[in-house]
Amino acid sequence: MNWNKWVRQIHRWLAVAFTVTVVVTFVALAQEEPLVWVSYVPLLPLALLLFTGLYLFALPYAAKWRRAAGR
Ligand code: HEM
Repeated sequence: MNWNKWVRQIHRWLAVAFTVTVVVTFVALAQEEPLVWVSYVPLLPLALLLFTGLYLFALPYAAKWRRAAGR
């Protein structure tokens, strides 16, 4: 499996992890005494989603540049 496929897989599974943390946040904030700190937990997978997502976004352009440069 090449590097690009790995990043795509990581992005997919981070999406699942992120969704779970968002659901957990809803539950935590719905308590009589809300656990506010839990609402910061989704920021970690979201930050990793941003970087892997930007990488995926750049891939088709990088391929185009390589073709144009004859590499
Ligand atoms: C935070 C900024 C994010 C950026 C910049 C980003 C960017 C991208 C890009 C460029 C792709 C590839 C699209 C393609 O060409 O096929 C992608 C795929 C995907 N993204 Fe994101 N994304 C972000 C966040 C998220 C979030 C929050 C979720 C869901 C909770 C998510 C779920 C997915 C999924 C499921 C795919 C398809 C993966 C696959 O092809 O297997 N992304 N994203």
